[in-house]
Amino acid sequence: MTQYWTIYKILAITLASAFIRASHNSCPVMECWFVQEKPGRGGFSAAVSQEKSLMYIRTDPDDRSFMQLHPPADIDQSRVYYVTDPAASFCHAPLHPPEGSVTKPQCEINPFVPHPSTVRWATSLTESGQSPIHLQADWFSVAAQGLDGKLVFSAIMRAPSGSKEPHVILSVSSRTASVHFRLGERVMLDCGFWVDPSSPLSGAGFSVEWRYQFRGDGRLVLAYDGKNDRLADTGEPDAALDFNALHETGNASLILEEAQVRHSGTYICSVYLPNLLAQVALDLEIVEPPSLSIFPSPLPLIVPGQVVSVQCEASGFFPLSLELAWEFVGADGQLLSLGQGSLSGHKQASDGTYSQSSRLELDSTKLGLGRGGEVICVGNHMGGTRKVKVTLNVIGVSAPSIEDSMMMVVVALGLYGLIKVFSRTVSPTGTSNGDTKDKKGN
Ligand SMILES: *[C@@H]1O[C@H](CO)[C@@H](O)[C@H](O)[C@H]1NC(C)=O
Repeated sequence: MTQYWTIYKILAITLASAFIRASHNSCPVMECWFVQEKPGRGGFSAAVSQEKSLMYIRTDPDDRSFMQLHPPADIDQSRVYYVTDPAASFCHAPLHPPEGSVTKPQCEINPFVPHPSTVRWATSLTESGQSPIHLQADWFSVAAQGLDGKLVFSAIMRAPSGSKEPHVILSVSSRTASVHFRLGERVMLDCGFWVDPSSPLSGAGFSVEWRYQFRGDGRLVLAYDGKNDRLADTGEPDAALDFNALHETGNASLILEEAQVRHSGTYICSVYLPNLLAQVALDLEIVEPPSLSIFPSPLPLIVPGQVVSVQCEASGFFPLSLELAWEFVGADGQLLSLGQGSLSGHKQASDGTYSQSSRLELDSTKLGLGRGGEVICVGNHMGGTRKVKVTLNVIGVSAPSIEDSMMMVVVALGLYGLIKVFSRTVSPTGTSNGDTKDKKGN
């Protein structure tokens, strides 16, 4: 236990310095929806009420300057809160868009009821029984989402009963609210938590849990009982936490050594304190652009009117949506779109990636491809655009130009000359003696 005390002392010092820095931050106001279940009469009604609310945030509890401010008239006085947030968790830039911006961060406050957790890795937190006096207060949970998927944030706040001045006790946030990685990359899903060092709950232990959720399928990725320094067995060997960073700075970021398609989905980072729980949800997308190849390569020489079939194969991509298209760049540098060709159905490989192909019938006369050029297959995917090309040569193009005709004459003359030379050189020294004998015989 003593080693934990030193750890928490270090934590307190780090946070104290963060506190000093944070006091200079300004994050004055935050609009939020206050959402609560309507006092039910039937007991079954899950109706909720939603009211506008406003939070004035200060990092220094002694800062009284907000008390002179007049909240907007459309907000009920009873829904105005004066929040003390020593770690300045509410002050992250993505939660405060520039003045006049159309999109606003989302924020919701709910009444919160502290209760012992029943998950195995967090039951030890409430074994000894926490001071019930501390729990007798008004508790709130706040969930906020910054702009552009840059931040998700959740906090548990405590206000002396009836007061409108809650203190942040626990906050959890992530700067990777929505991220994508390519296959094989090392994935870092950010999650950090902060506990008010002046709270009786600070130093009473914590637990961290990472869950995965995808289309109703959920599983435990990692669960750590920080009080007993025990990791639950989850059958996810490639998921890891940095335990030093976790205890020292509350860094609960999840590391997945090698990104795979099956990792795509939503991850929930939950932090438990005795009777409290705060969590944030993150979206991880695996995005891999296709590898393209063209068959046959090289293309056979074709004559005008001949049709050659080309195939472009895209493989190893994820997610599924892919646009394949054909282009042609003639000798004159002109770009011609040849459409998407006829697409095959998609196939999924054992690693979860997809493949799909497109076939194009190249009819040089119909498509007006002249004497040839580059045939290009373009794959447009959210992971990037990929291209592959092959050279098309059309020989003996019909309706030849004057130059072509002259060229043909030159070639014909040349050929004639060659034949003459050839027949002259062959006849006298001719190797086929039998022929000459036969001729003599005739
Ligand atoms: C938390 O830990 C991860 C992995 O060890 C690291 O990449 C990240 O930068 C850390 N975050 C902070 C805020 O220190």
